[in-house]
Amino acid sequence: MTERIFNFAAGPAVLPEPVLAEAQRDLMALPGVGMSVLEISHRSKTFDEILNGCEADIRRLAAIPDSYRVLFLQGGASLQFSMVPMNLLPPGGSADYIVTGAWSQKAVKEAERVGAARIAASTEAENFSRIPEQKELRLDPRAAYVHFTTNNTIFGTQWPREPEVGAVPLVGDASSDIFSRPIDVTRYALIYAGAQKNLGPSGVTLVIVRDDMLARSPKNLPTMLDYNTHAREKSLYNTPPVFGIYIMRLTMKWLLAQGGLEAIGRRNAEKAKILYDAIDGSGTFYRPHARPGSRSSMNVNFRLASEELEKQFVAAARAAGFDGLKGHRSVGGIRASIYNAFPKEGVEALVAFMKDFRQKNG
Ligand SMILES: Cc1ncc(COP(=O)(O)O)c(C=O)c1O
Repeated sequence: MTERIFNFAAGPAVLPEPVLAEAQRDLMALPGVGMSVLEISHRSKTFDEILNGCEADIRRLAAIPDSYRVLFLQGGASLQFSMVPMNLLPPGGSADYIVTGAWSQKAVKEAERVGAARIAASTEAENFSRIPEQKELRLDPRAAYVHFTTNNTIFGTQWPREPEVGAVPLVGDASSDIFSRPIDVTRYALIYAGAQKNLGPSGVTLVIVRDDMLARSPKNLPTMLDYNTHAREKSLYNTPPVFGIYIMRLTMKWLLAQGGLEAIGRRNAEKAKILYDAIDGSGTFYRPHARPGSRSSMNVNFRLASEELEKQFVAAARAAGFDGLKGHRSVGGIRASIYNAFPKEGVEALVAFMKDFRQKNG
């Protein structure tokens, strides 16, 4: 096998090796089928089993009640920025948005094209270095829904728990931490996530939506943008992203084999602690972006004394076999994304590299 390096990319991101190996092995022909998953009808029995198996594993992993639909859509999480307000925000209504980073800002912008969106809280003044506290949220009890971003991929902050929103439906963009730890789906009216971090490859978007939300969609919505279409047709209204769903199916099987969300959550917390401890223990050589209490277990952001030193760090890391560490172009610095499939050994190797780099450059 070609040697793999440690891939710290923010997304698309590292996938479990057993998933890649099985996909590679069966790419020419699925066992007993004689054709690859890329070549069979999405209405075939084989694909039906893949789709239903994927949904069943997702429901099992997160204990999703029967009162929720599980949908496999296209258009990325970005299309959900539009579909959520198009379906859930009634004419004359208003939705609350909690703004904790660039993706929340994009979500607000799209909601404003559809109707009224209120900012219930924002930590922009502090360069999105933290998650707002409950007492800072100025929530409208009549809001159509409250939208928040569970993990801020670009700034490396994560909600330690969901905001309390009373009886108002809660909508979460969980693109970068879905299934990284246990999740109580019943707290949400709708959860969405682009697959390309913890679920599989890009091209498929998971939506988990409570049945009662479906009644809100206006009748004149374009068919493809109406959740009811995909709920009614079980994500088979049109040709779905078959390969993405297939890889997601294998990834969910892998996640169950790891022991499910409790077990992966413990492992993710352990991995993140190793990295944050190394940052905190470096004096001021490595400077964390996120404040304690808001730190993400998925995306670990830090800065060095200068952009020049950060450039050197990224280049030296690349030469040492660590890819994807350059921070998002909008914030700079270093970002280590350590999603579910990222191995603990990779985190330990990075920490050893960081120590060495500090000794040489401190
Ligand atoms: C939290 C979050 N929301 C939304 C998106 C946009 O996702 P997509 O590229 O699937 O539209 C991303 C992408 O990285 C993200 O991290």
